[in-house]
Amino acid sequence: MASVSLRQIVKHYDKTAVLHGIDLDIADGELMVFVGPSGCGKSTLLRMIAGLENISSGDLHIGGVRANDIAPAQRKLAMVFQSYALYPHMTVYDNMAFALKLAGQKTPAIDAAVQRAADTLQISQLLQRKPSELSGGQRQRVAIGRAIVRTPELFLFDEPLSNLDASLRVQMRVEISRLHRELQTTMIYVTHDQVEAMTLGQRIAVFNGGRIEQVGTPHQLYNHPANLFVAGFLGTPKMNFISAEVISRSADQLNLLLPGGAIVAVACAAGSSASSGDRVTLGVRAEHLRLLPGADDNTVEVCIGHIEYLGDQSIVYASLDGRSELIAIRAPAAAATLQAGQRCHLQLPVLQCHIFDRSGLALTSTVRHA
Ligand SMILES: Nc1ncnc2c1ncn2[C@@H]1O[C@H](COP(=O)(O)OP(=O)(O)O)[C@@H](O)[C@H]1O
Ligand SMILES: [Mg+2]
Repeated sequence: MASVSLRQIVKHYDKTAVLHGIDLDIADGELMVFVGPSGCGKSTLLRMIAGLENISSGDLHIGGVRANDIAPAQRKLAMVFQSYALYPHMTVYDNMAFALKLAGQKTPAIDAAVQRAADTLQISQLLQRKPSELSGGQRQRVAIGRAIVRTPELFLFDEPLSNLDASLRVQMRVEISRLHRELQTTMIYVTHDQVEAMTLGQRIAVFNGGRIEQVGTPHQLYNHPANLFVAGFLGTPKMNFISAEVISRSADQLNLLLPGGAIVAVACAAGSSASSGDRVTLGVRAEHLRLLPGADDNTVEVCIGHIEYLGDQSIVYASLDGRSELIAIRAPAAAATLQAGQRCHLQLPVLQCHIFDRSGLALTSTVRHA
């Protein structure tokens, strides 16, 4: 097992900088997810950790040892890619045994390692097949098996499930979690899929444009996003953002003027800097909003747009007076009987709103979540 430490890691290709000084510590045995939109530098950073890309500047330590100049084969890590890259002419057994044979291990040791990995991944019955005789999910298991047999101190996964269909992805996600619990090996898992990140990661680093926006547990990132990017990236439906103006504040509460003229109250931390006249963004998740038939505490009038009926619930999209932006509301399934154009009252939760300043940074809030 190995910890990983990144200090001011920079990558540029010619004059184009793609990573701008990454600082991150990954603990021994931790499962860390790198998530972010396509092109933000996740694979580049993973490949630098693997030794497949050189580091333009900064320090990489693996297991406490500076690794910038250590050859990939000596880094005691194994990488699994999106494309399985299995040898087509070899059986599953030989695919998994290949690296061990190259390393000069003896046949009984190789056999034991392959059988053990095959058991863990539930592919023992497939060992004599060729890759062409396997499904996508089975091939990806073999690719993971090939990494496990080498008993690396660090696993690197680069979008390993992207080629699989949705139900298989869910199943493999569960298996990778189980694998991590069993092996207790440090893992870095790259994905652009926020659901995969939330469900797999012990901690998540959210990347954007070659920088880390925030690092934390799924709970911390979901409930206390540090900025608009993280708030909008994690969660479906996306967090609702409404531009607003602070019209007054008390010690722990702001009154906000919303587009359309309604005024709502939201909690804010005593030490936070918002004051009257400030333009802010109010962020609120669909599950914290309630549709009511009449006016009540902290309600605003909205007009129903369209409704997505999901069986167990409905996502209702509604807009404030005179505005086209839709606000998503997670509602009981029965809300599907609402009609487009109907007027309703939307209740905002005083304690579960997020406030972002003009630069997109979260004001330290008193957001209270389970
Ligand atoms: N060999 C290369 N030469 C020049 N630019 C590259 C090279 N590899 C990647 N890039 C650029 O670096 C950025 C990050 O790419 P990448 O790490 O693959 O993103 P991600 O994995 O997050 O989708 C992209 O803008 C990409 O175009
Ligand atoms: Mg990538």
